Amino acid sequence: MKIAVTGANSSVGQHLLAKITTQDEISVIAGVRSERAKASLPISPRIEPRIISYEDSEGLASLFAAVDCVVHLAGILIENRQTSYASANVAATAAVVQAVKHSAVKHLVFISVIGADANAANAYFRSKGCAEKLVVESGISASIIRTPILLGPDTAGAKALLGAASQTSIRVLGGGHYLMRPLDIDDLGVAILRCCESQSAGTTSHELAGPETISYRELIARTAKLLGREIQVGSMPMWLAKLGATIGSTLKGGGISATVIDVITQDEVVKTNADSVLGISLTPLQSTLEKITNEKRSS
Ligand SMILES: NC(=O)c1ccc[n+]([C@@H]2O[C@H](COP(=O)([O-])OP(=O)(O)OC[C@H]3O[C@@H](n4cnc5c(N)ncnc54)[C@H](OP(=O)(O)O)[C@@H]3O)[C@@H](O)[C@H]2O)c1
Repeated sequence: MKIAVTGANSSVGQHLLAKITTQDEISVIAGVRSERAKASLPISPRIEPRIISYEDSEGLASLFAAVDCVVHLAGILIENRQTSYASANVAATAAVVQAVKHSAVKHLVFISVIGADANAANAYFRSKGCAEKLVVESGISASIIRTPILLGPDTAGAKALLGAASQTSIRVLGGGHYLMRPLDIDDLGVAILRCCESQSAGTTSHELAGPETISYRELIARTAKLLGREIQVGSMPMWLAKLGATIGSTLKGGGISATVIDVITQDEVVKTNADSVLGISLTPLQSTLEKITNEKRSS
């Protein structure tokens, strides 16, 4: 099977490529936007790095010409002066969907987020919902996988968690009472490859969350324990955090905004977890936390 991956230098992309290098039967075109990103990709005879532009749908279509499945990973949570939800989450998806439509690709896998909704008041959830809508309305054979926070070495979520758990005391948003269902990034890699192999007709949407529901404050305490530390978790008022974020992100033209705060403090609730339909055995949260804390200790 030949796969093309967009945003191949993302955390999910790097983990997926590392997994694919261990599998003889899969080869990949790894699409990135810059030489710098290209240089960060693993080197393997099964990985062909390519610089792509989402403004060139025809170029994307010719890149996809001999590909069975496209995995669309490019997307952001935090905007900056160069990148917005409109360009990274919506326009890039529109370009990929158009290119898939005009090629012989059999299946598209799109990574979305739990809470995506084209009518959401929150701009991030709305952008991911609009991107999902583009996929669904295109009529192509596709799988949408909605995920919660992803944990694994080098994910943004793991970096934030390890940073918090390494303190002796920390104040977190609203006391960190919001509920999370962290998913091991390697489990997402397995799910992506399952979807690539199954190539079901029409669009299928999956919500794939981790095996355990936990509040963020408990997650920090458990991670601190694995690091051999004790931590006091206090509360930062939400209104104050949002005020600071609004001022900061307006001045900087991006960064942590009130929109981002609303996303990360939203309870991650899943109606039906897709682990059984995708035939995935989810990694226990404790094992995922051991993996990221061991990595931190050895770095
Ligand atoms: N990490 C999570 O916890 C989480 C949770 C739910 C959903 N997801 C989704 O999973 C996917 C991968 O996430 P990740 O955390 O692995 O990503 P990541 O490490 O933050 O990487 C973001 C990727 O998006 C690309 N990108 C940024 N701006 C772009 C633009 N304007 N046009 C096209 N591409 C652009 C980046 O390319 P450059 O390096 O060239 O900027 C990079 O390849 C994303 O779609 C994300 O929304 C992630």
